[in-house]
Amino acid sequence: MTRASRSVASPRVVCIEDFRPIARRRIPKSVFDYLDGGAEGEVTLRENCRVFNDVTFRPRHAVAIAECGLCTTVLGFSLSLPFLLAPVGYSRLMHPGGEVAAARAAGKAGTPYILSTISGHKLEDVRRASSGPVFYQLYLMGGRGAAEASIERARAAGFNALVVTIDTPVAGIRERDYRNGMKELVSGSVFEKIPYLPQLLSRPGWLASYLLDGGLPGLPNVVIPGKGPMPLVDINAALAESAVTWADLRWIRDLWKGPIVVKGVLTADDARRSMDEGAAAISVSNHGGRQLDGVPASLRALPEVVKAVNGQIEILMDGGIRRGTDVAKALCMGARGVLCGRAYAYGLAAAGEAGVDRAIQILRTDLERTLRLLGCPSVNALDRSYVNVPKDWD
Ligand code: GLV
Repeated sequence: MTRASRSVASPRVVCIEDFRPIARRRIPKSVFDYLDGGAEGEVTLRENCRVFNDVTFRPRHAVAIAECGLCTTVLGFSLSLPFLLAPVGYSRLMHPGGEVAAARAAGKAGTPYILSTISGHKLEDVRRASSGPVFYQLYLMGGRGAAEASIERARAAGFNALVVTIDTPVAGIRERDYRNGMKELVSGSVFEKIPYLPQLLSRPGWLASYLLDGGLPGLPNVVIPGKGPMPLVDINAALAESAVTWADLRWIRDLWKGPIVVKGVLTADDARRSMDEGAAAISVSNHGGRQLDGVPASLRALPEVVKAVNGQIEILMDGGIRRGTDVAKALCMGARGVLCGRAYAYGLAAAGEAGVDRAIQILRTDLERTLRLLGCPSVNALDRSYVNVPKDWD
């Protein structure tokens, strides 16, 4: 066992929540709060997790289960687990291994890694790091030329699907980022950074690894034609350029011949529109409570979308997954798989790749235990008969 994996072994880390204080102690407040926080009053952020309590299980007891099946398929790819690693911006600020470490951990576990456009490692290196499927999450920052170039690079590198996020006409106001000087730290002058430097100096271990990694990473996957890679910008500047419209989806579809996942669907209307525009799958998502505060929790939005899609395309969901029971509830409610973002990113921030491995291990063993306790032999057999859903949800 390495030092990093010892640092996140049981009993220090027994559940995903246990990573949080370790991550908080290891990384600067600005980076931790970027990961941990949401928009405005963080109502949707909290609701994403809380809402899982509204759905309760209906187990089948005294059922013998020799083997528990966790395997499934998403977009035709065989996965060992029904949870995928969601795109998480600025992962390389959380740990130098960043996106490469997370992709390697996902590959070892037999599940896809989804690389955010706001990433610090080259997409080619991320592709090489994983032995499994890798998807690219596209933002249009840097303009259409930059997006076309990254779509072409993703194709040439062997990415398996494109994930287009549709809920970012502007960035949600993440109040913690303003207070912590996230903008000044990533894109301000030295003078502007000064008031916010003490928080970096109070994390010497992180600071040493960050400096050894070369300091501010830049955005190697947003290459502006004739100019080169975009320097790192704060989330407001990034998302202000990232608005995607249905018309954009059309030219993206012409360029990308593989499957497209539309991420950020919360209503039947957007689900139908995604299908009309040729999405192979959608992710029911409120961007982890980071965009419009006050929209429903993802799980709460799932029944409306499941009904509208009526089995025609695959449905994923993301938002609030912290336990295997959460994964199971989402699958019972009609999701084919879920995306976990913070659940693994806390692990990444706490201990790099070893932390991501441990987060996946926790969710995997949780899920297997849940299936056994439910008396259900396989994730593919989970359905509404295993849960009580509040009457007004349908
Ligand atoms: C990036 O997509 C973010 O929500 O911070």
